Amino acid sequence: MPADDQSHPAPRTLFLTGATGFLGAFILAELLGRTADTVHCLVRAKDDAHGIERIRDGLTGFGIWRDEYQPRIRPVPGDLTRPLLGMSEQTFSRLASDIDVIYHAGAQVNFVYPYAALKAANVGGTQEVIRLAVRHHVKPVHYVSAIDAMVKLGEVRVKEDDPLPLSPIPHGYVQSKWAAERAVAAAQAKGLQVSIYRPWLIGAHSQTGVCHTSDYVLRLLHGCLEAGIVPSHEESLNISTVDFFSSALVHISLNDENIGKPYHLANPRGEPLPDLYERIRSFGYRLDELPYEVWRDRLNRTLPPASAAYSVLPLIPEHPAPEGARHPSIDCTRSLAALEGTGITCAPLDERLVHLQLGYLVDVGFLPPPEHTGRAELTTTSTARA
Ligand SMILES: NC(=O)c1ccc[n+]([C@@H]2O[C@H](COP(=O)([O-])OP(=O)(O)OC[C@H]3O[C@@H](n4cnc5c(N)ncnc54)[C@H](OP(=O)(O)O)[C@@H]3O)[C@@H](O)[C@H]2O)c1
Repeated sequence: MPADDQSHPAPRTLFLTGATGFLGAFILAELLGRTADTVHCLVRAKDDAHGIERIRDGLTGFGIWRDEYQPRIRPVPGDLTRPLLGMSEQTFSRLASDIDVIYHAGAQVNFVYPYAALKAANVGGTQEVIRLAVRHHVKPVHYVSAIDAMVKLGEVRVKEDDPLPLSPIPHGYVQSKWAAERAVAAAQAKGLQVSIYRPWLIGAHSQTGVCHTSDYVLRLLHGCLEAGIVPSHEESLNISTVDFFSSALVHISLNDENIGKPYHLANPRGEPLPDLYERIRSFGYRLDELPYEVWRDRLNRTLPPASAAYSVLPLIPEHPAPEGARHPSIDCTRSLAALEGTGITCAPLDERLVHLQLGYLVDVGFLPPPEHTGRAELTTTSTARA
């Protein structure tokens, strides 16, 4: 990651939430790699030493830690669910006066919990971040939202400047991201500059296959591979690579002309499920296609409680989405314009990338090796990711 030369030649002081998570870790590495900035990171930790250890362990786990980063990372023990982000009044005020920009990527990402369980971290946390942004001097905020907050049932295309739906999809996590965007919109109306980055699904790194295994889609995949069955279904899956998301966000954020607008960051190419099944089969896994309801019923009956997919089984809808209620297409016009000429593009979820990610998941023990190795032998070794 070369030092960025487009703006901000003078080192800045940033504040980042979510640095121990998947997206936040990559955003942190990208910021540190492309700028000379110092980054204060909110982290759930008992003290600074524990905080830096958690951040370092997270980046190391994703294969993106560099020792030279450490002097520019300042852990800030705290908690999104608490007033003043869990800091003392004095610490909060000092931080507010020290920082120039805020990146807010922290959230409780849980598709099972109800809204009430997510509200404190996702809505309250965002309100406290806004409070920090307006304390002492006003500073811009870069907020990681989710496309889901914008989706209305039955909608076919979601544009970056669409108004927020009057009410969100009835799903706790989506409701919390929608309510957080409402808080952001209220702050914007009062003059706060907030750039909003809305990812769709974020998946593995395009060159290493590294991903986080707590992801809903991967848990479900684990269950499907365990049972050897997938639903016969025409839906497409839109997954962006984490390196695309983090470098796009950081690039856009570093240009002052881009500040204060919404950006959709999705893969320009959704992949039909039958094509993805073929790429998984060519890695060596056996997968039989079953009618949707038969597949759902069999997963529910056969997967043991110890299965990685067990906790997400209740989230599988009883029936597949009818054609008119499938995932909408995501308009990314402003993001694409902001990224034009940079070479920052999203890798397609082709056979190479699917095999790379499956190889990573086998290497870390999340998935068993395929029974039939097929072409997997070419990609499961770590040399394929070097
Ligand atoms: N991954 C995706 O596909 C995707 C798609 C759309 C939108 N997003 C959005 O992207 C952002 C990052 O998601 P992610 O996938 O990177 O999630 P993640 O891996 O679960 O990371 C969440 C981060 O938020 C922190 N966090 C959670 N609760 C907190 C609290 N009470 N106090 C302080 N920090 C707290 C976590 O800290 P701990 O390590 O202490 O838990 C972690 O650093 C979220 O806003 C999410 O809504 C993600």
